[in-house]
Amino acid sequence: MNIEHALVCVFSAALAEVAGFDVDPAVRRSPRADFQVDGALALARRLGRPPVQVAQEVLDRVDWAGLHATAQVAGPGFINVTLDDRFLAQELHRVATDERLGVAAATPQVVTIDYSAPNVAKEMHVGHLRSTVIGDAAARLLSFLGHQVRRMNHVGDWGTPFGMLIEHLLDIGETEAAHELSVGDLTAFYQAARAKFDSDPGFAQRSRLRVVALQAGDEQTRRLWRLLVEESEKYFLAVYGKLGVTLSDADFLPESFYNDELAPLVKELDEQGLLHDSQGAKCVFPPGFAGRDGEPLPLIVRKSDGGFGYAATDLASVKYRTGPLAADRMLYFVGTPQRLHFEMVFAAARQAGWIGEKVEVRHVNFGSILGEDGKMLKTRAGQTIKLIELLDEAVSRAAAIVADKSPHLEAETQAQVAWAVGIGAIKYADLSSDRVKDYVFDWDRMLATNGDTAAYLQYACARIGSIFRKGAVVPDPAAPVTLAHPAERALAMELLAFPAVLDTAARTVELHRLAGYLFGLAGLYTEFYSHCRVLGSAEQAGRLVLCDVTRRTLVLGLDLLGIVVPERM
Ligand code: ARG
Repeated sequence: MNIEHALVCVFSAALAEVAGFDVDPAVRRSPRADFQVDGALALARRLGRPPVQVAQEVLDRVDWAGLHATAQVAGPGFINVTLDDRFLAQELHRVATDERLGVAAATPQVVTIDYSAPNVAKEMHVGHLRSTVIGDAAARLLSFLGHQVRRMNHVGDWGTPFGMLIEHLLDIGETEAAHELSVGDLTAFYQAARAKFDSDPGFAQRSRLRVVALQAGDEQTRRLWRLLVEESEKYFLAVYGKLGVTLSDADFLPESFYNDELAPLVKELDEQGLLHDSQGAKCVFPPGFAGRDGEPLPLIVRKSDGGFGYAATDLASVKYRTGPLAADRMLYFVGTPQRLHFEMVFAAARQAGWIGEKVEVRHVNFGSILGEDGKMLKTRAGQTIKLIELLDEAVSRAAAIVADKSPHLEAETQAQVAWAVGIGAIKYADLSSDRVKDYVFDWDRMLATNGDTAAYLQYACARIGSIFRKGAVVPDPAAPVTLAHPAERALAMELLAFPAVLDTAARTVELHRLAGYLFGLAGLYTEFYSHCRVLGSAEQAGRLVLCDVTRRTLVLGLDLLGIVVPERM
């Protein structure tokens, strides 16, 4: 049971009875009791009545249904709720014997998750890392909650740069190009093309003609373009493999996927009277967007040269998701700098009637990864960091830690653990910070085995597992639990909060709430373990259940964040 949600229901009903209208019960965890309900305070203010009296009236009307608790009005008029120990023990029993740890499946929605989205023949940079890591965690969480998740990798595979990229490919030869791209030398490839484009007018002219040929569907040009796309996609998949994300080749839905939809889309906008000429370009002016000079801002859907741009493709992406895919919820995981782009695309799509009233569309933005100097993360030479090198470094740094902390493991296991710890460190550092904020990339902090890190949580799981091995016991999830010690009770309360935490994280798309919860849980477990003897105690069976549920909650929670917990460490 999601206890917090159950309390919200119970108090909403009581508040509505007193008020005659709906009132937010404002339920939250409280240091004074288990929960605190503040809704009566706001209601009293609205009614102009004494809050304590209103709170008491609300409390008198509470129908506790399946909950067992005591409650009092306290302070200026909030309500303190303390759950019965027996009820907690019984709920814990339910959780322990449930494979889903008490997490019920949600009413299923179709959710499209647009994430990763690197660009063909261009190095994946740390911005794509954030999108990939956060988007993948959201995809895992929402599927676990029972939603129908559609992963969409909106790879940049179209547009003017492809003229110069194809010309460069021809200059160096197909074999050499395929080699450079497949080993991930994307930066070198792109920069060489760019340099020639900027310095050699003949090359630039060829490139422009090549774009025209590409858009006209010229056979040979398309073949070369496909070669660039395929080699890059292979490379992206290798990165995904190393990163342990759930994106596969079936999830590539690149920009070119929408090519055939663009002309009809523009026609439709035109027929709706939404299209205006602006310096030769066809634009939509969605209401509410103005430049510094107060002039309405254009969203360019067709450029003056007749080409379609990024905005047109994203309008098509919205239309495809709400249309054929019938999405209830569309999430776009892209950095904060693209905020205006998405706001305007969504506003224009709304104007065109492509987003139904019940559909949620959201730019799930995130801040930048900074270097220790507080500037954008770059190599010492000031270059963008290759994602793959960053991942390799994480794993090799983790290998040194594992060799030091777990010398007893065989070499092969050590390597697996190092991968889990290294990649886990990168993911956790990203997911545990509030995504809209920037964060500083700091190897020592993210790989620490003590503190708010993946390694700390992974080792916590391993330590629980080693209790079972040491005692040669298999925890029986059905064993009765008594919550006699305050540390046992506090741990149980937190374990029972798991469904509410997942719910909130899914609704707000704030994965750091889940990370923070897991870290807090590990802390409560440590408290419990230092106060309550497990092996050899009279309460052994019940305490093993607490150990077991803690371990399973940590493992599942980390899995939803995309972090692997090795069996032994
Ligand atoms: N390829 C783009 C970039 O690297 C990100 C695309 C994000 N997704 C989207 N539907 N626009 O900046």
